[in-house]
Amino acid sequence: MFSTMATALSQVPATDPALGFQSQEEEIAVERLPVEGRVPAWLTGSLVRVTPAKLEVGDRRLGHWFDGLAALNRFGFHDGAVSYRSRFLDTEAYRKARRGEGVTGFGTDPCRSIFQRVQSIFSPELTDNANVNLVRIGERHIAMTETPLPIEFDEETLATVGPLRFADKDGGQVTTAHPHHDRARDELVNYSVRFSGKSEYRLWGLPAGSSSRRRIASLKVDRPAYMHAFGMSERYLILAEYPLRVNPLALAFSGRAFIKNYRWQPGEATRFQVIDRETGALRGTYETDGFFCFHHVNAFERGGELVVDLVAFEDASIIDSLYLDERGPVATLPPSELRRYTIGLDSGVVRHEPLAEGTVELPRIDYGRRNTRDYRFAYFAGAAGQGWLNRLVKVDTDRGEVASWSEPGCFPGEPIFVRAPGEDAEDAGAILSVVLDTRAGRSFLLVLDAGSFDELARAEAPHHIPFGFHGQYLR
Ligand code: CO
Repeated sequence: MFSTMATALSQVPATDPALGFQSQEEEIAVERLPVEGRVPAWLTGSLVRVTPAKLEVGDRRLGHWFDGLAALNRFGFHDGAVSYRSRFLDTEAYRKARRGEGVTGFGTDPCRSIFQRVQSIFSPELTDNANVNLVRIGERHIAMTETPLPIEFDEETLATVGPLRFADKDGGQVTTAHPHHDRARDELVNYSVRFSGKSEYRLWGLPAGSSSRRRIASLKVDRPAYMHAFGMSERYLILAEYPLRVNPLALAFSGRAFIKNYRWQPGEATRFQVIDRETGALRGTYETDGFFCFHHVNAFERGGELVVDLVAFEDASIIDSLYLDERGPVATLPPSELRRYTIGLDSGVVRHEPLAEGTVELPRIDYGRRNTRDYRFAYFAGAAGQGWLNRLVKVDTDRGEVASWSEPGCFPGEPIFVRAPGEDAEDAGAILSVVLDTRAGRSFLLVLDAGSFDELARAEAPHHIPFGFHGQYLR
């Protein structure tokens, strides 16, 4: 299989992103990467990202990109120098994959010869393959996926500490890898779905240093929607229920991969469920035309209105487009729109408008200072034309202006904003992004000036780093 893949890859043009969907099994530590340009000396933390880095089990290609086995990558900064380390998360899922046993998860069908039919989301056999995102909560660092099994790791060595076990049983079976941070309470805020005959969305906070979640609210739901993230304003939590819904019983007994149990309901509305963070009361349910989204960008209140910015797709076909064949995704990424929804909290009127032109994904803002508040700048990986994400984009949401960075043969990942110390301007800082350079056959860490969007430096990684989802700058 690997030789077939190598042959296939040697025939693809250098502008094809296929290399980003090839496994990287090497675990490596490099003290000093070659640096071109000047890395700001005030960058003294580390950029840690999680990527699906092993995409085969035995000689079987995983069915869906979201099921790749999680590896951590760390770029450490010190006096303008950059170190690098990569390491797989030592999870049950990874150990099974190494033994050639089947991987269950998001979109890869369970292997029937190993797994029984009722090997499902209701069983304790939830995947611990935390390949989506990572956060710091208090002194702990955890990698996360959409099951309630976060994996704690050492930020310096990337060694796996083990699962973070919740002391309560409040969490349900599915959650998001995009928790919010409640500054006032120093609490991680998230929602989960508890599937049963009477399913519920549960919103909760996990205080720093604690393993017990505080229930904020719960909401009954017949057919839960698939929601990869949610919004948070000063006062509200916002669940956007897209018409991609599941019958909980089908989920329990179908024996199919998790997401294949969800059905897109054409013509059905998207419903914003707006929940008061303090009282847990439902402020209202607001309907608009159906759309799909992975990532909220920001949300804030303005007068009697709630503004919800997100990356919208016409439908959920992006999920299907990310099933894998030997080369990469089976279909082209559908176009997206950076969209602002304005919800009249009393009037019930929901309007929307585009904030900029062009396909974008993987949004970031100056989260620490601007989340829940009116803001101006957002950063994305974007696609110019048809095809994989091939540029970085900065959007001025006030003016609709767009700045971009791109280079032939290069495919950048999520742009992470790092604020420059002692600066007030919202875009004073750096953008960090791991870029796959298909011409060189490896990746580099790109450092942009967030204000001008000009390149400041790049640090060459020793190998290619498969495309991934999210990461964080850790101070
Ligand atoms: Co995400």
